[in-house]
Amino acid sequence: FLDIRDLHAKTGCFTFDPGFTSTGSCLSAITFIDGPKGICLYRGYPVQELVERAQALEAAYLLLVGELPNPKQLEQFKSDINKDMLIHDKIKAMFATFTINAHPMAIMVAVVGALSCVFSELDPANELHRWLACNRLIAKVPVLACMAYKSSIGQPIMQPRTDLSFAGNFLYMMFATPMEDYKVNPVAAKAVNAFMILHMDHEQNASTSTVRIAGSPQANPYACIAAGVACLWGPAHGGANEAVIEMLEQIGSKDKVAQFVEDVKNKKEGVRLMGFGHRVYKNYDPRARVMKKMVAEVLAELGVDDPLLAVAHELEKVALEDDYFIKRKLYPNVDYYSGIMLRALGIPTSMFTVMFAMSRTVGWVSQWNEMVSEGQMKIGRPRQLYVGTAERKFSRSIPES
Ligand code: ACO
Repeated sequence: FLDIRDLHAKTGCFTFDPGFTSTGSCLSAITFIDGPKGICLYRGYPVQELVERAQALEAAYLLLVGELPNPKQLEQFKSDINKDMLIHDKIKAMFATFTINAHPMAIMVAVVGALSCVFSELDPANELHRWLACNRLIAKVPVLACMAYKSSIGQPIMQPRTDLSFAGNFLYMMFATPMEDYKVNPVAAKAVNAFMILHMDHEQNASTSTVRIAGSPQANPYACIAAGVACLWGPAHGGANEAVIEMLEQIGSKDKVAQFVEDVKNKKEGVRLMGFGHRVYKNYDPRARVMKKMVAEVLAELGVDDPLLAVAHELEKVALEDDYFIKRKLYPNVDYYSGIMLRALGIPTSMFTVMFAMSRTVGWVSQWNEMVSEGQMKIGRPRQLYVGTAERKFSRSIPES
């Protein structure tokens, strides 16, 4: 029996797995996914049940601690998170320095990373230090998200309110102004709560793996989360929710769907059906199922008629009946319908991935904490197959002057 860790040392061999399609990088007790069956469990609870019954902060506590909080624990957690929502003045001052058209995700990479200037003293071996870092990130990232939005539209930043839910506070900070009273719509708060829970964790996806690798040499956790934000931004990952809306707008109407699907199948200029496909799910993404239902409910309750929903339905129908998609087991993922719901709430498209980032922060810190606390701090260091030039002698092609 050869321990896999000794594979290279003893045999000179290592596994070659570009994209890590079949490489397990860690042990984790946080999220379970069964791709072929379309199952997603947070600490054993089906994600769809949590969406129906839990508050975002209950789900966050569950992911971080491992058990649902009792009422006293939940109250304490909410109070800690509320206190941690304050942002240092130096970080607030950063928002004035970005260019007017800066994408909010670019701003988030900078300001989340800058938290490591404020909270630089941290001993990863100290449980309390880790707990504080996790809480601060869960609390501050949504506030920073709203600050990024408000500063981009030239409006004053709104301070969070302690009397609102986590989701309600996000909506308040996004849409309230000092000039007018703002009441959080319960339908919108329920939708944001659901969005947050659905996006909180998804085992070793690209951004979570990035956070773990960044954290493995004991880097500052705030900087590690900034690395996660950067990775999530890509359109093949969290940026897909923004890309789906751009794609649906580009298609424009139901009668153009068939031609678009042909373009996807012919791989025209790298055209992909955004919001479709997943590395692990080879069946309908259970989160997408919840999101599809939520979209219908939220649009009906808010009285919104979005023509893009009809295009999305038609596109899904045509794709799911087509051999190209059937053969490759391509189904809608969580990003396919989420943008239509966020549009109905008045969230601008450029904030979609930011909302994903603030939700996924819960998973990132839970995974970072698990890695650090369970002594899995083996530095993440894959190998490569070198395909470059063999060793050669140095000789100048330009004569020395
Ligand atoms: N549209 C069209 N074809 C697709 C799509 C798609 N969305 N996804 C995969 N395929 C095809 C590929 O072209 C490939 O076909 P081939 O065998 O003829 O070359 C085959 O399916 C396998 O695709 P891969 O890219 O190898 O699959 P992988 O597991 O590496 O990629 C990914 C998964 C990145 C999610 C991919 O499906 C994709 O790009 N989807 C669109 C972007 C998206 O929605 N991303 C969000 C993912 S979920 C999340 O991050 C929350």
